[in-house]
Amino acid sequence: MDDRAIGVFDSGMGGLTAVRELIRRLPGEDVVYFGDTGRVPYGGRGAETIIKYARQDVAFLRGFDLKAIVIACGTVSTTALDILTRENAPLPVIGVVEPAARAAVAATRTGRIGLVGTKATIASGAYERTVRRLMPQAVVTARACPLFVPLVENGRYQPGDPLVELLVAEYLAPFREAEVDTLILGCTHYPLLRDAIAAYLGPGVTLISSGAACVDTVARLLEERDMKNAKAQGGEHLYFASDSAQDFGVLGSVFLGQDIQGQARQVAIENY
Ligand code: DGL
Repeated sequence: MDDRAIGVFDSGMGGLTAVRELIRRLPGEDVVYFGDTGRVPYGGRGAETIIKYARQDVAFLRGFDLKAIVIACGTVSTTALDILTRENAPLPVIGVVEPAARAAVAATRTGRIGLVGTKATIASGAYERTVRRLMPQAVVTARACPLFVPLVENGRYQPGDPLVELLVAEYLAPFREAEVDTLILGCTHYPLLRDAIAAYLGPGVTLISSGAACVDTVARLLEERDMKNAKAQGGEHLYFASDSAQDFGVLGSVFLGQDIQGQARQVAIENY
């Protein structure tokens, strides 16, 4: 048993899609979440900046007594997982790439797998490499969708919203053409667009949420190392953001599927 908290971070609110699954699957675990809402999006920035921001995010979280860190961000996972793992050892650091790739390989019937993510994520090639290691015959079609994160952070994700429909059709047309049967949502913001994406691609395409997929790895790790919280229910959840705590509460409640208004606190992340 280990009653320490799990630290989770993302460039913004997207990582809450992982926290949502974490709370559902492991309701006794304490969670500390940090969303860098003041500097989102990360995905159009260079690797050096992403690494610098990710180090500051982790430095903030390490002010808490943690048993693991979850990088609930495709961009940071594809750019800085190795560095953060090395710098924080022996604290386990879990990213979203391997878990999402595993889930996609398990789901595909044809081996035609699609991948959407931020510019940095797609440029890194990390998801494709992982999918091909697990399934050498896989055919991976990848596309960066740089406007999805700002769209979602601004509360625009509903199907029927003309801007959402336009961008979904623009970005996802290649996946229809490639006849993928599985699409990795390689960015943790994208599950908010799940309904619009599913409506465009149709019921034959399985959508893999990278944030939700990484919770499998967290659960397995805690089980294997006998590190589960002694409580089976009632974990405490703390929320921090680098921009307005009030805004985080409003939109964060949507991402999380439960009301967290008034619970978030603001952090001056540049001081870390
Ligand atoms: N949720 C982040 C990800 O998974 C968004 C990255 C960004 O800020 O551009 O990639």
